[in-house]
Amino acid sequence: MNTILDFLSNISWWGWVLIGLALVAIRDIFLQKSHTISHNFPIIGHLRYWLESIGPEMRQYFVANNREELPFNRIERGWIYASAKKENNYEGFGTDRDIYEHQHMFINNAMMPFKVDKDHPNSIDKTFLPCAKVIGEFNKRKKPYRPASVINVSAMSFGSLSAKAVDSLNKGVKIAGAYHNTGEGGLSPYHRNGGDVVFHFGTGYFGVRAEDGGFSMEKMKKLVNDNPFIRAIEIKLSQGAKPGKGGVLPGAKITKEIAAIRGVEVGKDVLSPPNHKAFSNVPEMVDFIEDIAEATGLPVGIKAAIGKLEQWNELADIMLKTGKGPDFITVDGGEGGTGAAPPSFADHVSLPWVYGFGNLYKLFKHKGLSERVVFIGSGKLGFPAKAAMAFAMGVDCINVAREAMMSIGCIQAQVCHTNRCPSGIATQSKWLQNGIDPTLKSERLAQYFKTFKKELVEITHAAGYEHPCQFKMNDIEINVDDHNLSKELDRTYMYEKTPVPFNSMQDLKDCLYLGANYNKK
Ligand SMILES: Cc1cc2nc3c(=O)[nH]c(=O)nc-3n(C[C@H](O)[C@H](O)[C@H](O)COP(=O)(O)O)c2cc1C
Repeated sequence: MNTILDFLSNISWWGWVLIGLALVAIRDIFLQKSHTISHNFPIIGHLRYWLESIGPEMRQYFVANNREELPFNRIERGWIYASAKKENNYEGFGTDRDIYEHQHMFINNAMMPFKVDKDHPNSIDKTFLPCAKVIGEFNKRKKPYRPASVINVSAMSFGSLSAKAVDSLNKGVKIAGAYHNTGEGGLSPYHRNGGDVVFHFGTGYFGVRAEDGGFSMEKMKKLVNDNPFIRAIEIKLSQGAKPGKGGVLPGAKITKEIAAIRGVEVGKDVLSPPNHKAFSNVPEMVDFIEDIAEATGLPVGIKAAIGKLEQWNELADIMLKTGKGPDFITVDGGEGGTGAAPPSFADHVSLPWVYGFGNLYKLFKHKGLSERVVFIGSGKLGFPAKAAMAFAMGVDCINVAREAMMSIGCIQAQVCHTNRCPSGIATQSKWLQNGIDPTLKSERLAQYFKTFKKELVEITHAAGYEHPCQFKMNDIEINVDDHNLSKELDRTYMYEKTPVPFNSMQDLKDCLYLGANYNKK
């Protein structure tokens, strides 16, 4: 025994390294069968796997240029981070973009900007920018709602996001006067900090789920009665990243608490089916919307990604004939984010936002319905200039998901589907969440929203308007290589926007239905 120990203790450190490598080589060649590269190139084959695994970080930090990455490039992320921290978000020396490039967008400025008088609401608060339309007004819902902010937090469930992230977002919207869309996971305790909430549900009916997995109107009524901060209800038909796919919440993210809120089992993948149980065609959907609006008094809308238009046409015809229908329509772009989706869906199914929204708006406008509906847009629209374009095309409000995540610390690691989100935002790991301070992060979301609104107001004034709802299609141009060829939006997308009735910002401020408790003080 002693001789063996003596022999082992005489082996030098590099001898141990050689023994270790020899063991790895034996394992690579003889014991494992799953990796051909390791078998054929023992030891050094591992380098390949390791380099591949750190490739995304290396490219993000060192290789990719400022405008190269997707979904959001470094300049876009940097603008959100700086805005959220109230740091200098300007750039020096002029734009680093090739503004002659194809598809580049220009906003036509006025010779003289809009003049803001001393007692104008924006002189008092540069970030005051409510929605120009009242949701539910046309359909005479009992509790109409004017969102007090044109930028709001898009649907992201507690489950796909961590408790601390939801808490931060909810406290943030309260500070910014915006609303918080719950996403599909039901209303959690972290949505109850007093900010406006839009309750969203999909085919899983989480939070309003009957015993048989269908929809429970009783639960819906109770939920709305118990939580007066719920200002509107959104029925999810589809989302841009995975239309027609239903949802998946990976089992790794289903904790006891989430299981209880959703009414599902701990640790098991939760699948929301592609179809709703509560309705199976367009007329039934309209009845369903009316039933919920009648039972709760709240405005009810639908969220969808756009592809074929036949069923939208049918919806528009029913709305025209019956005078009923959704109070708002949220159009999500194919570029939209998700907690988890197959790449074939995320990359290819449904139209990009500008095409999808343009098609839908045009259809509603031709039927004379565009004034009845509040249009909400989502799909990388959380940047003031892009938002101006969206307003020119007809949106009344913007929803942001990933931009909101970035404002509270998301680093675009793109691992939301693994439960290993390094920033603690899209994970249920208590350890990873521990770094989030909801008080600080809520200030960051609010500051991002305020900066966004301030810059959007400034762009609006530069174009000679008081509110972005006044943007028209021909205020924005898209570059097609030469100015003689560059086309305004109306000629690019072949429609003109219906003018939004707008009198003054002061009128919006005085509105009885203005959200975020503005007029309850
Ligand atoms: C983590 C995460 C979770 C999401 N969960 C939902 C959801 O429950 N329901 C839904 O309709 N959309 C969901 N979405 C889509 C967003 O609400 C939004 O429509 C989309 O990401 C486009 O907005 P963005 O470009 O600002 O991220 C989710 C997106 C993300 C990133």
